[in-house]
Amino acid sequence: MKILVLNGSPKKNSDTMRLTNAFLEGLKQDNDNSVEIINVIEKEIKPCLGCFACWKIQNGKCVQNDDQNAILSKIIESDIIVWSFPLYCYSMPSHIKAVIDRIIPLSKMSMKEENGIVRHDTVIDLSAKRYVVISGCGFPNWSGNFDGLRIQCNNMFGNNLTMICVPETPMLNVPEAAPLTTPLLEKFVSAGEEYAENLCLAGDTITSLETPMLPNEVYIQIVNQNS
Ligand SMILES: Cc1cc2nc3c(=O)[nH]c(=O)nc-3n(C[C@H](O)[C@H](O)[C@H](O)COP(=O)(O)O)c2cc1C
Repeated sequence: MKILVLNGSPKKNSDTMRLTNAFLEGLKQDNDNSVEIINVIEKEIKPCLGCFACWKIQNGKCVQNDDQNAILSKIIESDIIVWSFPLYCYSMPSHIKAVIDRIIPLSKMSMKEENGIVRHDTVIDLSAKRYVVISGCGFPNWSGNFDGLRIQCNNMFGNNLTMICVPETPMLNVPEAAPLTTPLLEKFVSAGEEYAENLCLAGDTITSLETPMLPNEVYIQIVNQNS
């Protein structure tokens, strides 16, 4: 399978990519899987113009001549698209949102309602594609933090989405936290293997990946001591 990773962290040492790389290590244990990683921050992706020219032309391309058309081609060629990005203001960083906004050339103006969700038809059949969203964040676990992102991604990617939202991820770049972060990274490797086999993750696996490494009060205390 062809796996495209869209890394939406602007940082060289992304906390979230540590998790994603562990997941990819598991996925790559199936030798038929090949992985390409695109660091979105290094690409020129302008905001959507809202001109809907793509809906008139319907060639799966944007009229703006920047790096997005190459990303659209890679999305079309790939079987699995992994979106890896940190949570920013309860959502996604603006440069990865620009990529998502500009997927609109793959859709048409015509729409349909299915299971209470309205979506556009697509210029090519995207129904077999799988999507994985891995998002790290700086807060400890609290229910509202990822709520908006979960709704957004469910609406975008539907039934073929596997979403993993991990609290306390700055710990992944703290060497002293290795006794807590290493077991989490190992769980991500196993999850990658599970995903390679089933193209989805069991609910228990996702719960285990999203379980905080530290209790909230301990994490908050450590952060506040260092701020
Ligand atoms: C502009 C900005 C907004 C952020 N917003 C949130 C937020 O809403 N909730 C949260 O828990 N963490 C938030 N964070 C913290 C990041 O999600 C956290 O540092 C994450 O581990 C960074 O991941 P990365 O190293 O992969 O970029 C924010 C960070 C920045 C820079």
